[in-house]
Amino acid sequence: MCGIVGYVGKKDAYPILINGLKRLEYRGYDSAGVAIWGPDGLNVQKCKGRVSDLEAHVSGRSMAGTTGIGHTRWATHGEPNDVNAHPHVSNKGDLALIHNGIIENYAPLKEELMSRGHVFYSDTDTEVLVHLIDDIQRTEGTDLAESVRLALGNVVGAYAIVVMDEKYPDMLVAARKSSPLVIGIGEDGDHFLASDATPIVEHTRNVVYMEDGEIAIIDREHGLRVRNIKNQETRPSIQALEIQLEALEKGGYEHFMLKEIYEQPRSIRDSMRGRLNLAQSDIVLGGIKDHEQRIVNAKRILIVACGTSWHAGMVGEYLFEEYARIPVEVEYASEFRYRNPVITEDDIVIAISQSGETADTLAAIELAKGRGATIIGICNVVGSSIARMTHAGSYTHAGPEIGVASTKAFTAQVTLLTLMALMIGRRKGTIDGAKFQQLLLELDSIPAKVEKVLKTEAQVKYIAGIYKDARNALYLGRGYSFPVALEGALKLKEISYIHAEGYPAAEMKHGPIALIDEEMPVFVIATQGASYEKVVSNIQEVKARKGKVIAIVTEGDTIVKEIADHTIEIPASPDAFVPLLAVVPLQLLSYHVAVMRGCNVDQPRNLAKSVTVE
Ligand code: AGP
Repeated sequence: MCGIVGYVGKKDAYPILINGLKRLEYRGYDSAGVAIWGPDGLNVQKCKGRVSDLEAHVSGRSMAGTTGIGHTRWATHGEPNDVNAHPHVSNKGDLALIHNGIIENYAPLKEELMSRGHVFYSDTDTEVLVHLIDDIQRTEGTDLAESVRLALGNVVGAYAIVVMDEKYPDMLVAARKSSPLVIGIGEDGDHFLASDATPIVEHTRNVVYMEDGEIAIIDREHGLRVRNIKNQETRPSIQALEIQLEALEKGGYEHFMLKEIYEQPRSIRDSMRGRLNLAQSDIVLGGIKDHEQRIVNAKRILIVACGTSWHAGMVGEYLFEEYARIPVEVEYASEFRYRNPVITEDDIVIAISQSGETADTLAAIELAKGRGATIIGICNVVGSSIARMTHAGSYTHAGPEIGVASTKAFTAQVTLLTLMALMIGRRKGTIDGAKFQQLLLELDSIPAKVEKVLKTEAQVKYIAGIYKDARNALYLGRGYSFPVALEGALKLKEISYIHAEGYPAAEMKHGPIALIDEEMPVFVIATQGASYEKVVSNIQEVKARKGKVIAIVTEGDTIVKEIADHTIEIPASPDAFVPLLAVVPLQLLSYHVAVMRGCNVDQPRNLAKSVTVE
């Protein structure tokens, strides 16, 4: 996710843009830039770092002008640096563009534009857009708005863009598809643009939420004009904003954690975007292409990570062993780095980290790399230390995760591991074509299924109210759901401070069953699949000792409903994809228990978002 702002009006644009970007830094903050229509034409200033670094960068320079655009970046393609920062400009420097989203077909477009003489300077997907608009203007002789519309007709992916052109002073052209864009209607002809209403609400409460496929043209002479997807001029529907500024940053949610739980249908989709190709029945992971064969031939895969990322790695073990038939060992990075492990050059090491800065994981990578292993990274922060240390890798594209308790990063990591395991299995021939296509269709349906699971929130909140004063909790699962039990337990303990343990369900009789009494809530993932009958027996064992059972079941289940105290239904899916669904009610449960206990949900005590020390 990136943050974009724009302004056309009578006031100085720069202070409006820079303050707007500060409001949007929660959307991304690895580089920033502005373009202002000044006395000497387009004045573009951009640099790596936060918005405050951009302010330092421009201090002392004239930033005069009343029309401008600004951008704060969360890198998806091309690491954070001055060149990859937005705005991107045409070769003549007369066009400037900012973008939030992912252009999936940027590579072929870039090739074509380079063959037509356009010179590229950045590694971003975005730069393709500015050259494409420039190229169309030159070849078709069309005006700015029409050139933007024609250019976007060639684009596959998600975008919210704002474009400026020296040939059209005091004009901004904006467009959106799958990425949000809001227009603010100010007094005396002022118009504002932003990724959400956060930077706008201090100037005006009258806003227009752009729809997919729409193009907005804002200039001093005509004010705001909006064209719909059929290129017909439409009357924009202006809404009066009620929401308060602070709530806006959380998208109207009370906490970042809840917002991020609800972002999962989008973030899982973004993790698959441009990688899962149903039409070609294929998976393409560009970031590991050069190492694909090495992974196919691997005799062993080691996964190193910490915390929630380690739980994702545990799901990865089941995925790679089932679909690619490659032995996998999942290691706590902190243990791995000190036990003098046996590592050979044949080993593939997958390092999983949301922040890409976790000290133990960094050290584990260094150790494995030093002994000749090939290191593949799965990170959420582009250009992070771990991303730069690995030989190759894939970004999860989950967007910034602000809540300390990881939620959307976990499901994005599991999505990436699923794509990797299926792709390697297909390449190895351990999955046949028909099975592969069926799994792709299933995987493609997951975001919609997560939307459905989110609708159980009210029921989960009710259950949270019953168990919020528990002193201990047990989470049980088998197979793919065992790591989900571990993750559910971690979520509860790290934000509500209730002691919780995750266990393989069968392991209960080897000790933990002694803990069961009528005070003990036991959360069981009991979806219909390979070990369903066994898990039902485990539930009966708990009930026989008066334990309270809250079970996550496949929708329509009637058996568990008869014996558990509460059941939460999730859509049917293959065992391998259950983690992406079953974890959501457990995330919501820990969230509501923590809120009811008055805990600081987004910044739990003693915790940091990234553990950069040992
Ligand atoms: C999970 O909710 C915690 N925030 C923590 O366990 C986290 O997953 C762990 O510190 C690893 O962080 P990383 O993914 O950034 O490496």
